[in-house]
Amino acid sequence: MGAGQPVQYRATSRATVSLDKMKRYEKFADEIAALIRRGVLAPGEKVPSVRHASRTYGVSPSTVFQAYYLLEDRGLILARPRSGYFVREYAQRPLPEPEIGVRQAQTSEVDVSELVFSVLGSLKDPDTVPFGSAFPSPDLFPLPRLARSMAHSLRELSPHAVIADMTEGNPNLRRQIALRYMLSGVMLPLEELVICNGAMEALNLCLQCVTQPGDLVAIEAPAFYACLQVLERLKLKAVEIPVHPREGIDLDSLADSLARLPIKACWFMSSLQNPLGASMREEHKQALYELLQRHQVPLIEDDVYAELHFASQPPRSVKSFDRDGLVMHCGSFSKCLAPGYRVGWVAGGRYAEQIGRLKLMTTISPSVPAQAAIADYLQHGGYDRHLRKLRHALEAQQDSMLASAARHFPASTRVTRPGGGYFLWFEFPEQVDSLQLFRLALAQGISLAPGPIFSATRRFGNCARLNYGHPWNAQSEQAMALLGRIIASF
Ligand SMILES: Cc1ncc(COP(=O)(O)O)c(C=O)c1O
Repeated sequence: MGAGQPVQYRATSRATVSLDKMKRYEKFADEIAALIRRGVLAPGEKVPSVRHASRTYGVSPSTVFQAYYLLEDRGLILARPRSGYFVREYAQRPLPEPEIGVRQAQTSEVDVSELVFSVLGSLKDPDTVPFGSAFPSPDLFPLPRLARSMAHSLRELSPHAVIADMTEGNPNLRRQIALRYMLSGVMLPLEELVICNGAMEALNLCLQCVTQPGDLVAIEAPAFYACLQVLERLKLKAVEIPVHPREGIDLDSLADSLARLPIKACWFMSSLQNPLGASMREEHKQALYELLQRHQVPLIEDDVYAELHFASQPPRSVKSFDRDGLVMHCGSFSKCLAPGYRVGWVAGGRYAEQIGRLKLMTTISPSVPAQAAIADYLQHGGYDRHLRKLRHALEAQQDSMLASAARHFPASTRVTRPGGGYFLWFEFPEQVDSLQLFRLALAQGISLAPGPIFSATRRFGNCARLNYGHPWNAQSEQAMALLGRIIASF
């Protein structure tokens, strides 16, 4: 095991496009990119305003806009509200992005738990640099304000409601969640919402609801490791569908697997996928929905990072295209507001009632005080203001980690540039064994999440996920430098 199965690459189609076929905005974007790489436009500097660029370079404002969107996608510039576009900190010498592996979808039994537990167990030491952690820094959450909401809501809670709300969930919380769906354009009947002990319970119940032991479930490669553990526990078989680091699920591969195999359910993240950070384009999300609709295969959509987008608009979910209740959309407050409160939910579509019954048979209800506190906070605590601050902090921290990786990691390292969340996915040179890297780094007080824990078939042996969700400081920089030296020693 280990570095024996490097991810394979194929040439980018962009590289083979001849210059005369290039669109005007792409040419203009390339000219700006060249100015950035040569240092004419320095990190942190403002790029010419759309009006100025349009006049100076003789291109239309819409060409400039399109070019700037492209440069934003490539991670070279970022938009600041009401200020314009700026060169990102690491943009001068960015590491290249990973490319999708060309391997076919693979079917396999799942047996990863021991490996995952050994990695997770190593994350408990508070003195370890937490690049392997699944959470952002607790300092980024409004925990004192939430505690006030807890105290306030408990004073208001009637003893009768404590019992009555257990099955349905806190009515105010359900309303607040439905309201957020409504603001994002999804009209959700309240009956569809099942409040759960975090998204983890929601995802477990959804899968239990639509599968029997031995069934095939389509999952992502790489996938969130707990998804693999759930399949293992429920004795389900994984069909691993490749995920492009920027575009998300490979729809051709999925279509092929659905045509050949009796897949009973899909478990996918269409936005800010863990670990890659990939977000599918809207038209691909719609195509995914239509494909599953044709096959009548339910989708469990894990959307726990949805609130952590850096773009001005939130990403659309596949659920927003759902016409007949085929999508079970799972969300959570763990990543964006209240880690440890264990409050998540599923908008369960046609399966909502059955999911609710399964919940009653297993855990009955998430903690009533925790639900009441979050409901109070959503109503009075300034949630959107907190989210704006959090996204801003995470975006700046992503820049710092990317800049640091470009300084300290080998130039052939590849890295994702997600439009949100707090993970980067690194592909190191082929000879790097990330499990061995994990052990060597841990001995020096640095954790990371090695690639094989994200795969049922233990692929991604030369990859790792690093968390940038903690404020960047001298210790983080030293840890990156040390990691760089260990990587170079392979
Ligand atoms: C992709 C993904 N889904 C679900 C979860 C579980 O979320 P919760 O803490 O709400 O159970 C996590 C947490 O690590 C996650 O990363």
